[in-house]
Amino acid sequence: MKDLNEEQQERAAGLKGLGCSRKRVEDARFTQGKGNYVDDIKMPGMLHGDFVRSPYAHARVKSINTDAAMALDGVVAVLTAKDLEPLSLHWMPTLAGDKQMVLADGKVLFQGQEVAFVVARDRFIAADAVELVEVEYEELPVIVNPFEALQSDVVLREDLAGQTEGAHGPRKHHNHIFTWEVGEKDATEQVLGDAEVVAEETVYYHRTHPCPLETCGAVASMDKVNGKLTVWGTFQAPHVVRTVASLLSGIEEHNIRVVSPDIGGGFGNKVGVYPGYVCAIVASIVTGVPVKWIEDRMENLMSTAFARDYWMTGKISATKEGKITGLHCHVTADHGAFDACADPTKFPAGFMNICTGSYDIPTAYLAVDGVYTNKAPGGVSYRCSFRVTEAAYFIERMIEVLAIELNMDAAELRRINFIKKEQFPYQSALGWEYDSGDYHTAWDKALKAVDYEGLRKEQADRVEAFKRGETRKLMGVGLSFFTEIVGAGPVKNCDILGMGMFDSCEIRIHPTGSAIARLGTISQGQGHATTFAQILASEIGISADSITIEEGDTDTAPYGLGTYGSRSTPVAGAATALAGRKIRAKAQMIAAYLLEVHDNDLEWDVDRFVVKGAPERFKTMKEIAYAAYNQAIPGVEPGLEAVSYYDPPNMTYPFGAYVCVMDIDVDTGVQEIRKFYALDDCGTRINPMIIEGQVHGGLTEALAVALGQEIAYDDMGNVKTGTFMDFFLPTAWEVPNYITDHTVTPSPHHPIGAKGVGESPHVGGVPCFSNAVNDAFRAFGLRHTHMPHDHWRIWQTANRLGLHD
Ligand code: CDP
Repeated sequence: MKDLNEEQQERAAGLKGLGCSRKRVEDARFTQGKGNYVDDIKMPGMLHGDFVRSPYAHARVKSINTDAAMALDGVVAVLTAKDLEPLSLHWMPTLAGDKQMVLADGKVLFQGQEVAFVVARDRFIAADAVELVEVEYEELPVIVNPFEALQSDVVLREDLAGQTEGAHGPRKHHNHIFTWEVGEKDATEQVLGDAEVVAEETVYYHRTHPCPLETCGAVASMDKVNGKLTVWGTFQAPHVVRTVASLLSGIEEHNIRVVSPDIGGGFGNKVGVYPGYVCAIVASIVTGVPVKWIEDRMENLMSTAFARDYWMTGKISATKEGKITGLHCHVTADHGAFDACADPTKFPAGFMNICTGSYDIPTAYLAVDGVYTNKAPGGVSYRCSFRVTEAAYFIERMIEVLAIELNMDAAELRRINFIKKEQFPYQSALGWEYDSGDYHTAWDKALKAVDYEGLRKEQADRVEAFKRGETRKLMGVGLSFFTEIVGAGPVKNCDILGMGMFDSCEIRIHPTGSAIARLGTISQGQGHATTFAQILASEIGISADSITIEEGDTDTAPYGLGTYGSRSTPVAGAATALAGRKIRAKAQMIAAYLLEVHDNDLEWDVDRFVVKGAPERFKTMKEIAYAAYNQAIPGVEPGLEAVSYYDPPNMTYPFGAYVCVMDIDVDTGVQEIRKFYALDDCGTRINPMIIEGQVHGGLTEALAVALGQEIAYDDMGNVKTGTFMDFFLPTAWEVPNYITDHTVTPSPHHPIGAKGVGESPHVGGVPCFSNAVNDAFRAFGLRHTHMPHDHWRIWQTANRLGLHD
């Protein structure tokens, strides 16, 4: 609002557009218990489904006897793979070009795998009947370690036996899925060979789970009279679900309506298609009544999509002065029993090739080997854009290890190697074009804000005091600087199951000057109804309070690829701005007619068109909207509507600088976060309050992952962390008081300069927390210790370093 006079500023403020910390409109219903989640849907005659799940991680299914279950009063059906086979629905395609059993077909490959689906009058009867289904298993050898899987004679995926080609090229072994290579192998090896300094480390990013507060579920209702199937579900991409449901079932797409109602968090967990959705649909088609399937917490943690499980081995080379010359990364990626990773088709390891991070690294090479094991399938981007968090964790750990090798300050090492402002757009060695950035400014601001030099001095004093026996607490200063890559497309590079990754917005202006806009995305708590109205308010001069935003109903919303990977603002947000501009262009023609001037004699003024040089002659958007419906305007169609399908020319590259100050009690392993400073740059900021909320949430999930959250297995493939007793979900008790800050470097190609933000704090937060733990022990010879850094593991690290002697 810089160039506006006072009166214009007042009008602009009334619109509650870009930059306004508008309160979240959706919270009125959420805070009053009026949200409408899948489990709130109740329909007359609705049946309930529940799964019989495998207690074994690897076993042959010798027989399934459903007689006792069927005999229970209230049980309507028990489906097994045999029932689904005639419909060719006992297996289903995954998003990664593999296929996955819907119900156990001959054997089970992970603990918690779906074996049979019981349909009953109510949830309790269904649960009782699950206990009555008798399954005879013959145990098979279990493999939970991907390195072992690649050596083992045991064939996990017998359905693929003998297949030497997978969806992503050659398979080297019967438990191998693919090798994905990016960059220059020979040149990188040459650079590493010639380097003055090389640091090497293996960094394990453990298996964890997005764990949304609302678990996954669906209600399917097949109306046999008009042939229409309606599915309400926890879907992050409802249109894709409709297309897949049509392809799988043979029901024409116009006869399928998919609705995502309110969703209680997704974080990647609700991108894929699960057996529960398929079984609910089949059961409704078979029974002719609605069927609901809602998983419980243990089922969610055990069987729906996991995240991470990447073993990353890196080599990073530099000159003695610390200028990085090359980076080599090899990943062994544990995909579990089926390759059900949710990535754009051409990227089997997602955007792991952003692993050169924020640094100007001239030569790099990345190879990823995907491997089958006896663990649950998934591999989703838990609050990150397609493996970016793995990439950021990897490079931010490698920088710290290199700093140790060079005996250099890690903040200074980063500064020396940052991509410079004038290098943007920057072509990375592994194939990305970073759109914009000003890393040095952000870094300097962050370090100044926390008094970095003072912290290092305090830390050094603490080490001395510890050595003198005056304290048992060490101090870690965790640093991280991350670059995210969000907003998939472009269509030419990114598709999911062949559907190009564009997004969309359709706007209808009503005669009285209010509006409805529908988008191809779906909020899971991010506040789209609030912020997308703000984009429009600034574009079309109608107050955000007069604009309804609707998402998630495929019968009404334009086709879109959904919400994950912080793509909503970069893609659907751009579509919204451009659809708004189409509205404005038509509005200009109408205003010109009403004011009896040429279109070019008008200029836009906040919420109206004004005759140039005659500011007293104008037409407000409200007046224009009314005219659009009530006046015959020569050469202009009645109505005021627009639609935009936006194929982004590039991703957006938000970035940030984080610092964590942590005290660690060497004797108990308890860590205390004294300070956490987060500077985020997501380009143009639509709603600063919502951004702040996104940052707090993302940091809290980062804290969880770095400091304790894990899906752990024992050697038998038993899930050891299947409940909240063992799976760490932080509460207000563990969460520190975050200090947030920002810089603004707009995206040059986004219509309003906005980049995504939802996932940035997670991507930058995980390495920051982890670096703080590692840094606390640097003075005592630690190079690297694996996450999650729970108290026990920290205690063990201290013990290994001899600090308990
Ligand atoms: O795709 P998803 O909604 O998860 O992520 P996002 O596009 O990063 O947006 C998360 C929330 O932050 C939305 O409500 C956005 O409109 C808002 N946001 C913002 O206010 N300004 C930005 N530059 C980016 C996002």
